[in-house]
Amino acid sequence: MQIAVNILILPDFKAMTILQTKEDLQQYLGPYKQANKCIGFVPTMGALHQGHLSLASRALEECALVVVSIFVNPTQFNNPEDLEKYPRQLAQDVAILSALNTDIVVFSPTSENIYAGQVKARQYDFGDLGSFMEGLHRPGHFDGVATVVSLLFDAVTPDRAYFGEKDYQQLRIVETLVAIEKQPVIIVPCAIARNVEGLALSSRNQRLNVLQRQQALLLIQVLRDARKNFGTTSIEAIKKQVFTAFENNPECTLEYFEIADVVSLVPRNTKDPKKKYRAFIAAHIAGVRLIDNIELN
Ligand code: PAJ
Repeated sequence: MQIAVNILILPDFKAMTILQTKEDLQQYLGPYKQANKCIGFVPTMGALHQGHLSLASRALEECALVVVSIFVNPTQFNNPEDLEKYPRQLAQDVAILSALNTDIVVFSPTSENIYAGQVKARQYDFGDLGSFMEGLHRPGHFDGVATVVSLLFDAVTPDRAYFGEKDYQQLRIVETLVAIEKQPVIIVPCAIARNVEGLALSSRNQRLNVLQRQQALLLIQVLRDARKNFGTTSIEAIKKQVFTAFENNPECTLEYFEIADVVSLVPRNTKDPKKKYRAFIAAHIAGVRLIDNIELN
């Protein structure tokens, strides 16, 4: 079923195309595929913010047609409460996208449609890439992500797909997924969008009040300190500084802080001058789980 929704009732307001099944999507994309037009894809779970829009804007610059999917994927949530509380606001998301460009196609399938009835994650082996940080602390998360991304790629058949460095490990997992499955899609990494104070934009920030958002700046503070000190301080000492900073701010609970080389994503305690490193953090504020990361050298 193809529905075109007018979000604002204005005579000159162009309707956005919202498609709810992969069958309708494929039919819609047919002429673009036949004409060999570049199809860009931005997979999201909705509750859109400027971070998502930066990916969509980049896709609009580089592709003839852009599909933004909005689908809260149940199989990647290892915590049922997190899934339940995840913000869902399709009408608002469509309005946000239409302000950016009404030519974007929104794909918002049901679980049954995208999973063809069996809402279950496949099992993947991403080796070290999926074994630490998010992989360690959210068991099964990357199997769920990889499963839905693979299913979405089958539905959208994009030429280019845009992923944020905000979820750096996810980005690397997706790059590996397309290599394993030989999906003919170029993965385009996009920089982290932050608010003026440095807080990484996230759909989960909606669940924080003004004070808690202020407290959440501890994540970027410790990441920036780590970057500043990385050249002169041992990884062990940097980690100690981070642990102390969290002890001094008990409203934020640290889940992990790791420094990993960007190729293997294995956390390291010693530095190899030939390698590039990133720092990764996950922390909880008022029951909301936030992640962030930063390039160190
Ligand atoms: P979601 O958290 O909605 O993020 C969708 C995309 O937006 C991801 O590629 C994510 O890295 C990117 N993104 C989020 N916040 C960003 C920011 N502040 N700056 C830059 N990019 C940002 O990631 C997912 O959804 C899901 O796991 C998904 C890939 C859609 C699979 O379900």
